Amino acid sequence: MTNSVKISPSILSADFANLGHDVRTLDAAGADYIHIDVMDGHFVPNISIGPGVVKALRPHSAKPFDVHLMISPVDSYLEDFAKAGADIITVHPEAGAHTHRTVQAIKALGKKAGLALNPGTPIDAVDYLIDDLDLILVMSVNPGFGGQSFIDSQLRKIEALRKRIDASGLDIDLEVDGGINIDTAPLAISAGANVLVAGTATFKGGEAAYGANMRALRGES
Ligand code: DX5
Ligand code: ZN
Repeated sequence: MTNSVKISPSILSADFANLGHDVRTLDAAGADYIHIDVMDGHFVPNISIGPGVVKALRPHSAKPFDVHLMISPVDSYLEDFAKAGADIITVHPEAGAHTHRTVQAIKALGKKAGLALNPGTPIDAVDYLIDDLDLILVMSVNPGFGGQSFIDSQLRKIEALRKRIDASGLDIDLEVDGGINIDTAPLAISAGANVLVAGTATFKGGEAAYGANMRALRGES
C-alpha cells in the first residue's frame, strides 16, 4: 500500500534569490504540495510573499500550491491569490470578521478552502464550516516564523479533528504546520495528520537531501 502521508514543503526556508529553482527542485524531489507562507507584518510579525511571487512561481511546478494566508484583513486578497495560481487557500478565522463568507468566497473562486487554527484556537472554530472545508491546518507553532519548536498540546487537537473529519465522512486534509521534523512527524501522523508542512526539515542538508528528507518525514525509510 502506498503511504498516504503528504509533504508540503514550506518555501519560507528556500533561497529567496532562487525561488523558482527551489520549487522545481522540490517538485522533482517528490513534494506533494508546495506550501507558500504569506505574511503581512500585521496579522503576524513578519513579511514574506505576495501574489506576484506566487504568479511568478506558478510555471515552475504543477504540484498544488498550498497557500497559507497569514494576513488580515484577508478577503480583499483572495482573488489575487486565486488568479496568481493558488490551488488551496487557507485562512485563519481571526483574520476576518466573517469566516463563513471568506470560505464561501474561496470556493466561489474555484479553489479549495482551508481553515488554519492557531495553537490557542479551539477546534470548535470549524463548527458550521466543516462541510465547506477541503483542509484543516493545525498550527503547531505560533505563526510568523520558520524554525520554531513543535507545541505538543496540538497533538490532542489533531486527534480530536481526525475524529471530527472521519465522523463527517468528508474528504478533508488534516495538515500540521510548524516544528515538524524527524521526531515530531511520527507523532503528528499517529495523531491523525495526513499532510505535514515542513520548512526547516525539508531544506536541511541542501537540495541533494530534499527527497530523502521528505521520505523520512513520511516514514518511508
Ligand atoms: C509559520 C509557517 C510555517 C513555517 C514552518 O508561520 O506557517 O509554514 O514556515 O517552518 P518549520 O517547518 O521550519 O517549522
Ligand atoms: Zn504555513
